[in-house]
Formats: sequence, structure tokens, C-alpha cells
Amino acid sequence: MNVLLLGSGGREHALAWKLSASPLLTRLYASPGNPGIGRVAELAKLDMSDHSAVAAFCQQKKIDLVVVGPEAPLVAGIADDLRAWGIRVFGPSKAAARLEGSKGFTKDLCAKFNIPTAAYGRFSDLSSAKAYVAKTGAPIVIKADGLAAGKGVTVAMTLDEAMAALEACFDGSFGAAGAEVVVEEYLTGEEASFFCLCDGATALPFGTAQDHKRVGDGDVGPNTGGMGAYSPAPVMTPQMTERTMRELIEPTMRGMADIGAPFAGILFAGLMITDSGPKLIEYNTRFGDPECQVLMMRLKDDLLVLLNAAVDGQLAHMSARWSEEAALTVVMAARGYPGTPEKGSVIRGLDEAASEGAEIFHAGTAINGGALVANGGRVLNVTALGATVADAQKKAYAALDRIDWPQGFCRRDIGWRAVEREKAGV
Ligand code: AMP
Ligand code: GLY
Repeated sequence: MNVLLLGSGGREHALAWKLSASPLLTRLYASPGNPGIGRVAELAKLDMSDHSAVAAFCQQKKIDLVVVGPEAPLVAGIADDLRAWGIRVFGPSKAAARLEGSKGFTKDLCAKFNIPTAAYGRFSDLSSAKAYVAKTGAPIVIKADGLAAGKGVTVAMTLDEAMAALEACFDGSFGAAGAEVVVEEYLTGEEASFFCLCDGATALPFGTAQDHKRVGDGDVGPNTGGMGAYSPAPVMTPQMTERTMRELIEPTMRGMADIGAPFAGILFAGLMITDSGPKLIEYNTRFGDPECQVLMMRLKDDLLVLLNAAVDGQLAHMSARWSEEAALTVVMAARGYPGTPEKGSVIRGLDEAASEGAEIFHAGTAINGGALVANGGRVLNVTALGATVADAQKKAYAALDRIDWPQGFCRRDIGWRAVEREKAGV
């Protein structure tokens, strides 16, 4: 099979790495890709927002499957447009991608199909939003409705913060994404990421992970896209997984089919495991980044076979096997991230790092004058397997410490919660 992978981050490098191991694969193309992806795929420069250009490329290269990595093209309807050209696509339709593209859509779906989530209100004007917040009190959570590159959520511990967040949304700080706002009850508990591979009717559990969203050690500082992750998530016991499937995922699959938008692709549930059970924080309609990196390290089966089954509506007959080992990834970011990262600094020592037994996935790298340089905020994902999270952590940091990149930084405590649990023997 010829496969085209769309995207350029560490998530896509992990997908490319796993796809390239498939005996079914003839040629792998990636667009835009990055230098790491370029080691296992042929890179093409396509404008992802020009769906007919992507379709023309697929016809020219006889692409049998397009795998869409990021959310923006899905929300823009790339899967529908390519399918209209007769091209097979792994990824949800535009209607199904509303699960990520509109927080209000997802909250209404939860309400309609009785899916446990935080209580909420939807608002399209500042004064009624403020009145609701004043009545409900803090802590409270303010969310821009649309895609805001991970920046549209404010967990407000005080009323002042909540009011300021509402003003920012309606002032246009998040562009069109903030024209509508969801105000949510503040949930407490432990967060986990839960993935399902879906074919429109069947959802196959597809791994669990926990990430670290804050930039600093000890989970402090501004939010990022994720500074590291590990899999599996210890809170997702078999019982918790079973409950999540029954109370959240299956009603979502039925609900989406019911409204004429069956979900096929990767459903990524951000969960809060509360005292009363799992509650939905949000859905994403793609793999997490960097969660995908740890999932791909643990997946024992052929990813391409599984993605084909999802596209063909055949998941009811499939299972996915996972390594018993834990996987952990540490993100190396360029100085300045999550603000404006410094670009262009030279990175050395990746072969030495890989010789420690880690996989180094590229996220924001480029080649400049023959040298590998930083070209984004999150730049590298140093990823390792181990018998325990502590082992995987040790291996990942041993590899990372051999990377020669003075302008990069990372958190030193990725996996701390799981490592503490392991120490305590719970
Ligand atoms: P999101 O961009 O929706 O993933 O939200 C970013 C982060 O905000 C989540 O990972 C949670 O830590 C936090 N968050 C979102 N919604 C809530 C909520 N209702 N209660 C508590 N924390 C939340
Ligand atoms: N790491 C969180 C995300 O991909 O949304």
C-alpha cells in the first residue's frame, strides 16, 4: 500500500515510524513532515488547506490511504473532500470532528446522551456569561468554543480571573474560536488520556496515557501542548476502562451515529477520574501529541492493518495488543517555549542518544546548511520503554543527557506521579 501521512510533529514521526514497520507498506509519503520523518518517508510539500491539491497528489502517487495527524484539517473537512474523490482516509468527517472543533457541540451531545461531564452553560454574549459566572462562583472553567491551539481554556480559581477570561474571549483574543464560550463546573481528580480506534460503529480501546501540560517541574507554570507523557495511565485500571467505555465512549458512538455523524478515526477522551467515576473533560479527534509517541512504542500489532480496519468498518473483528512495558517520552523544547521559541540553534548527539536504546522522535526540527536545527517550540521527543515507568524514565533521561543542544530545555520529572505510585507499591 502507498500511504500519505499529513502533519509534521512528533506525533506524526511516531506514526511514520510505526507505519514504516508494516509489511503491507509499499511507499510512505509525508507532508510536510520533518527531518526525522524524512528518514522513513518521502517528504512532499502540499498545502493541507488545498484539499484538491492533496487529492491530485494522491491520484498521481496512487495513494491507498491518507492518515491525517492534526485536528485543523479534519475540522476543515479534509476527510470528506478526499473521500469525494474516492480516496480512502483515516480520520473523521467534518461533522464528526465537531467533537473537537466545538466544545459546545460536545457538551450538548453529553447532555443529550447522558454522558458524564462537568455541568456547563453556553454563551455568545459577555453579559449573560458574566451573570452565570457570578451566580455559580469560583473555581470555574472558561473555554473558548472553537480550536484555539490549546490556549482557549482558563481554569479560574477566582471570580476576577473568570471575568477576565470571559472578557478576553469576547474581545477576540482567540479569534473566531472565542465568539462562543462554554463555562464549566470545576472538576477535581486525576486526569488521564484514553484513546479509542473507531470505525463509525465500533470503538476499540487503544491505549491510555498521562501527559504533563505545564512547562515547569512539579506541574507549575504556563500550559503547553505537553512536555512529556507516559503509558499506560495507572488510574485506568481494567474496571475504570470498562466504565469509561460503557458510560462515555459507547454512548458517544451511538449518539454520533444517531445524529448522522458516525465517528471514525481516533477518539481521544481527556478524562477526569473523580470520586464519582470518569467524567469527560474534552474530546479530541486525533492522536495526542506527545501521547501518540508512547502509544506507538507499546503497540505490538501492525498499525496499518488496524487503520485499514477502522476505515473499512471492520473493527468489530479486531483487537490490539500492547507491550506489558511502560513507555515514557520527554519533550525537549526550544528556549522561549511556550512563548516565542528561539529558532535555528544546532542540535547534535542524536545518534549517541539513540544508542542508549531510546527512540528520538522529531517534532520541530529542520535542516539548515547540513545541520539539524531547532525549528519550533517542541523540538524532540526522547522516548523509551522500561519494565516500570521508573525504568523507562531512567532510560529516556540517560538518552536525553547525551543530546548536545544548549539552547534546549526539558522537564526533569516526567512520570513523577506514576513513579511515586510504583515506589509506594500501589
Ligand atoms: P483542555 O484544553 O480542554 O484539555 O483543557 C486544558 C486543561 O484544563 C485540562 O487538561 C484540565 O487540566 C483543565 N480543565 C479543563 N476543563 C476542566 C474542568 N471542567 N475542571 C477542571 N479542570 C479542567
Ligand atoms: N497532549 C495533548 C494533546 O495532544 O491535545
